[in-house]
Amino acid sequence: MNTQAPALTVAEPYLIQQDWAAYTPEQHAVWAELVRRRMPQLAEHACQEYLDGFDQIGLREDAIPNLAEVNKRLGPRTRWNATPVSGFLPPDAFFEMLAARQFPTTTWLRSRDSLEYTPEPDIFHDVFGHVPMHAHSVFADFLQQYGKVCARLTDKDKLERMGRLFWFTVEFGVIRQNGKIKLYGSGLISSHGESSHVISCGPEIRDFDLDQVLDQQFLVSEMQKVLYAVESFDQIYEAAQQAEDRLA
Ligand SMILES: [Fe+2]
Repeated sequence: MNTQAPALTVAEPYLIQQDWAAYTPEQHAVWAELVRRRMPQLAEHACQEYLDGFDQIGLREDAIPNLAEVNKRLGPRTRWNATPVSGFLPPDAFFEMLAARQFPTTTWLRSRDSLEYTPEPDIFHDVFGHVPMHAHSVFADFLQQYGKVCARLTDKDKLERMGRLFWFTVEFGVIRQNGKIKLYGSGLISSHGESSHVISCGPEIRDFDLDQVLDQQFLVSEMQKVLYAVESFDQIYEAAQQAEDRLA
């Protein structure tokens, strides 16, 4: 682990080591199959920052990521770490980690029976889906700022509203690039079904607006009906800063 990283207190009980040597050839083969299935669509429809980040952090198509190796590349770029955790974190631990530029990362991988969907995030969702964007300096600062704002909130209603900002950016965010809608949210990047839904013009795409996003309800269990497109990642960084005033 990066010794420069701030100490974690609330999240500390959830930190684990990734036993990379324990992954089986079958698990590496499942990872390779997952990447092979996603890449053709992403090469055309993912935002350029995601594709650049994938290369910059050294993700491989044929092997499950070794987080220590990923962090050797990611840390010097943006001071973020993909930090192994035991599973779902309570909100205060999750926000503490984001505020410390440490992304809670699961280490288990879905089985071959559930290639398209897992109800709980696995290392494919967390690393393939999320971590490449953390190599982008503005997105990296946005995610930390988001964590800092949420870590200071205690009101349940305000946290729910901030959860919508996370959902419509980090998980299901889209951006306009060269006149086209491109994907950057990990829920889209890691899911062929969700991405195909967007590419086939399923959801209504609205211009990103912080107040609308904070009010926009969503269902986790259904394809998204509305998404919010940004013009640049500066917009979500500014939104995370403005959110603090909106919810004060
Ligand atoms: Fe996620």
